[in-house]
Amino acid sequence: MKVLVLGANGQIARLAEKELTQAKISQRLFLRNPSRIEPNELQEVVAGDATNLADLQEALNGIEIVYANLAGQTIEQQARNVVQAMKEQRVKRLIWISTLGIYDEVPGNYGKWNHQMLDGGYLETYSAAAKVIEESDLDYTIIRPAWLSNKAEVDYELTQKGEPFRGTEVSRQSIAALVTKLILNPDEHLHESLGVNKPNTDGDKPAWY
Ligand SMILES: NC(=O)c1ccc[n+]([C@@H]2O[C@H](COP(=O)([O-])OP(=O)(O)OC[C@H]3O[C@@H](n4cnc5c(N)ncnc54)[C@H](OP(=O)(O)O)[C@@H]3O)[C@@H](O)[C@H]2O)c1
Repeated sequence: MKVLVLGANGQIARLAEKELTQAKISQRLFLRNPSRIEPNELQEVVAGDATNLADLQEALNGIEIVYANLAGQTIEQQARNVVQAMKEQRVKRLIWISTLGIYDEVPGNYGKWNHQMLDGGYLETYSAAAKVIEESDLDYTIIRPAWLSNKAEVDYELTQKGEPFRGTEVSRQSIAALVTKLILNPDEHLHESLGVNKPNTDGDKPAWY
């Protein structure tokens, strides 16, 4: 099995790549500046920009699963390109990192604070990108992390789309562990959009604010 990691130098992606290597999974690492990663024996590095459809089409050759750890103001266009390229190359399984708040699902004061912090371009574009994924024929899992910490811990719980988001924070290491679990068990959580938070972290904002 070979996984294509989009945005392979992202902070969560780097953690997931370590876990995938430990699990002996082959990876094609797609990033804008390939000199940033020194590949190991299970990894192959390719230069690519997700706003460029041709880059994605080429990178999908021989791939079974796509893990997209992308970001930025062009995220909706990136989502459109990923969907189109995967359709053309007949690759079905997609794991897409999004964010909390795209369905206005964060309750109470934390939800208000999250809007204050993320409105004005970010939430709107991430929401539009998730819609592109959900309206596709792909076997997707969307992951909506709480505010991210760099704590060296794996401790998370899930909520489904339609349920209120729980908690305020989660570690990048937890998201990497969930991504790895999905890659190793690709039939789990198909067509789901998962809120991911550290249990018992409810509050008006993340603890470090
Ligand atoms: N910070 C939070 O609390 C929080 C909470 C929930 C969700 N999120 C979201 O979770 C996602 C992953 O988090 P993270 O910490 O791993 O983010 P990150 O370190 O910023 O990684 C995102 C990656 O996307 C890549 N990228 C952006 N545009 C690209 C393009 N056009 N083509 C190819 N690659 C592109 C960047 O590449 P370059 O290295 O080339 O710039 C970067 O490596 C992000 O979308 C983030 O916004 C964040």
